[in-house]
Amino acid sequence: MTVPAELRQKLQQYRQEHVLAWWDRLTENERRQLIEQLSSIDLDRLTRLYAEREHTYRPPDSSRIKPLAIVPADAPDNAAMRAAGEETLRRGEVAALVVAGGQGSRLGFDHPKGMYPIGPISRKSLFQIHAEKVLALGRRYGKQPPFLIMTSPATDAETRQFFADHAYFGLPREEVFFFCQGTMPALDLATGKLLLEAPGRLFLSPDGHGGTLTALSKSGLLEQLRRRGIRHLFYFQVDNPLVKVADPIFLGRHLAQRSEASSKIVPKQGPKDRLGNLVLVDGRCTMIEYSDLPDSLANERDANGRLRLWAGSPAIHIFDMDFLARVTAGAGLLPFHIARKKVPYLDDTGQIVQPQKENALKFERFIFDVLPLAERWLVMETSHREEFAPLKNAEGADSPQTVQAALTNLAADWLRCAGIEVPRTANGEPAVALEVSPLFALDAEEFAARVDRNIRINGATYFV
Ligand code: UD1
Repeated sequence: MTVPAELRQKLQQYRQEHVLAWWDRLTENERRQLIEQLSSIDLDRLTRLYAEREHTYRPPDSSRIKPLAIVPADAPDNAAMRAAGEETLRRGEVAALVVAGGQGSRLGFDHPKGMYPIGPISRKSLFQIHAEKVLALGRRYGKQPPFLIMTSPATDAETRQFFADHAYFGLPREEVFFFCQGTMPALDLATGKLLLEAPGRLFLSPDGHGGTLTALSKSGLLEQLRRRGIRHLFYFQVDNPLVKVADPIFLGRHLAQRSEASSKIVPKQGPKDRLGNLVLVDGRCTMIEYSDLPDSLANERDANGRLRLWAGSPAIHIFDMDFLARVTAGAGLLPFHIARKKVPYLDDTGQIVQPQKENALKFERFIFDVLPLAERWLVMETSHREEFAPLKNAEGADSPQTVQAALTNLAADWLRCAGIEVPRTANGEPAVALEVSPLFALDAEEFAARVDRNIRINGATYFV
């Protein structure tokens, strides 16, 4: 196999011929793979992104930022909204999509994060908890919502295998859809050259969860779902087992507002929480990511002492399918965010170098950059306690320990609503592990209707 002349010429034109330095020593297979990788990347776009590296994202000037209208969690019309949301579920117009392409490096778990056994008693994986919520919705409303799982090249094969090994957690096989997000190469910070991770392989990494939209559209899934009458896409992250998948109240509000892109928010606990910040910028619903938020803006407070940017994002959205079709039809779509990272690479002598400081640029798209494109939107408040406990780290905040405690707390809250008390420690926390299977109940009301009110909780209890 030889390098196609056109490709060689293109690499020369963009001064990237070094990627062929090991060509003579590659096997035929490696050569084919390298050609495939090189043919799939857009060198022109990469060159432009490299040129823009110093003009990194700048948050909007404070004067352009206004507070958003946010529906409180306990709004008086919740019952009507729930009824409307339930109707759309009965009509089979809703799909659920989980993004699970991240590598979870902060968690230090050597598999896709969705495989992490998080159930405090059951040890169910994140994937199982999510899949069972989707299954329970189908049972409750008589129409099975399709479940879409976005993977990345790093998580795809293992994720598919995991679902197959567990018989899709009871979901009909034809209602589970896997699709793989795209990748982007990393560039050397000093020279703009492509980095190799092996003699015949470019270093590629997932293109961010903004890649969801391109991948949905490219895979044909977006059209397929629209054709079968899906009108609303419930979007969430794999790391949060508390998420109320396709929450009917949220759906109802999304419908009532004829919203194109709806978001939930949680009150931030401190100015520098690692959460996206939802605000109004130039009259549009906009997210300012925590990594882009300068301290001065983060610390601003209003006359009552409340944080000006108080609305944190748990990354829970509903997108209108026509809206997604409209935005994915446009070229370019979402902007890339540029991050400086340490990326191990193969040097000129064929040695792998582990850099001590940031040596590379990585490019990612963020799904929430689609929010300002919506003509109509909706933002609704929820709480950490009810709906947000992400698994991010091995220890400390957002770790298995805190997430399991949050699952136990939620079960204890549902028990209390049903008039059942649980043993508590001196500081009021449940003294025993508690867990509710999504197949037992999806919310406090369903739990109260199903639980035996005469039970006594004396030890770890799993409602299944
Ligand atoms: C993310 C959000 C942040 C939000 C917070 C809530 C970004 C950039 N920011 O922060 O606004 O408040 O979660 O928990 O996401 N993923 C992919 N493909 C990728 C990259 C990520 O599928 O290429 C998925 C991951 O599997 C995960 C989710 O996106 O489910 C979030 O990624 P993570 O790196 O955990 O984001 P955070 O920085 O914690």
